[in-house]
Amino acid sequence: MADVKKLFIKTYGCQMNVYDSERMAEVMGGQGYVVTEVAEEADMVLLNTCHIREKASEKLYSDLGRLRPLKAAKPDLKIGVAGCVAQAEGQEIIRRMPLVDLVVGPQTYHRLPEMVAGRAPAVDTDFPAEDKFDHMPRRKAMRGPTAFLTVQEGCDKFCAFCVVPYTRGAEVSRPPARLLAEARDLVERGVREITLLGQNVNAYHGDDWTLARLVRELARIDGLERIRYTTSHPNDMDDDLIAAHGEEAKLMPYLHLPVQSGSDRILKAMNRKHTAEHYLRLVERIRAARPDIVLSSDFIAAFPGETAADHEATLALIREVGYGSAFCFKYSARPGTPAAEKPELPANIGDARLQELRDLITAQQLATQTAMVGREVGVLYEKAGRRPGQMVGKSDHLHAVHVDDPAGRVGDLVRVRITGSGSNSLAGLRIK
Ligand code: 5AD
Ligand code: SF4
Repeated sequence: MADVKKLFIKTYGCQMNVYDSERMAEVMGGQGYVVTEVAEEADMVLLNTCHIREKASEKLYSDLGRLRPLKAAKPDLKIGVAGCVAQAEGQEIIRRMPLVDLVVGPQTYHRLPEMVAGRAPAVDTDFPAEDKFDHMPRRKAMRGPTAFLTVQEGCDKFCAFCVVPYTRGAEVSRPPARLLAEARDLVERGVREITLLGQNVNAYHGDDWTLARLVRELARIDGLERIRYTTSHPNDMDDDLIAAHGEEAKLMPYLHLPVQSGSDRILKAMNRKHTAEHYLRLVERIRAARPDIVLSSDFIAAFPGETAADHEATLALIREVGYGSAFCFKYSARPGTPAAEKPELPANIGDARLQELRDLITAQQLATQTAMVGREVGVLYEKAGRRPGQMVGKSDHLHAVHVDDPAGRVGDLVRVRITGSGSNSLAGLRIK
């Protein structure tokens, strides 16, 4: 087919971006574009960017620099920047990198076809009233056993360090009827596990439904075997959602619940609106509902004004909770956020504290994995392993598990006895 064009998408940052990239591929699919994994053969390159930390946005500019020879060899190549750096910097991106043809924010990528055809402005960072998802096609092709489903976007929390309320805008929840229909559609196409996505997913309030109600309704869909959700704010963990963790077998025993710091003084400066104690009691209630739940979190090292005692308080909180994993970041001042007005700590202090957080988390991660040895868990196979006859999937607790199972196929949900723990994954034997 002469008119097939190729689209290369690079995705930076969070799972929301992974989802958005898939949807952009679908939108451009309607225009005759097929996705390629090889940038050199693309007619269009889309960089779906992340603005959350400084390093994330620097990557964009170095990658754009690397596209220069490609654009020189292929002047018709369209280069687009999408996502949160697009939203935050808009026209500035084209000024700095004139090889960029279009800049599209996270709320307007349904307009990509018009932009690519030159029928719409090359920079679009609106927050339109219409829902972009109402303006997008769905391809009916079969897909892998796991999928993301965006249920909520944006954030009203305004943590002092965070750009999300500015780049993704105010909290908006999608209507539950749409989500149930989309979930059924995914299940018909082979999906067995859905991860509900939102920057503040447990603040979901579409048509006055709570996230708990949405989870409970999704759990009634035959063929949908597993439900997860991310990312949650401690203050939005309501009683019903906690109860659902004990009552809904399809809701998997893993929860990402960022706390950021263990010091009340820093939590206050971060505008988190909860204390360490509040978080610890919340963890107790969640564990009472689902004792085997694996918890993860995000931590920021060296927030402005953080003392050695504040940092110790964070380490103490980590020790008290016992995490299965966590992301630890060094504080990075983001222009336009309140925290960026405050003096930063010296870089070497940040590096040392970050390392201490990471070391403790790594030790806890290994302990959590080792504690799985001997236990029986569900594993959903996602792909073939490197060794012949080996399958790789995720356990109920989101551990990667390698299983020797020559009869296994992608999409099988099997029972596995965990037999060993490596640095980042588990090994197991299929028992059913
Ligand atoms: N500096 C460092 N880490 C940050 N995060 C968000 N903003 C910043 C920042 N300015 C982290 C938080 C959040 C995660 C997605 O990224 O821990 O939970
Ligand atoms: Fe950013 Fe999360 Fe805080 Fe919202 S709740 S401002 S997304 S860190």
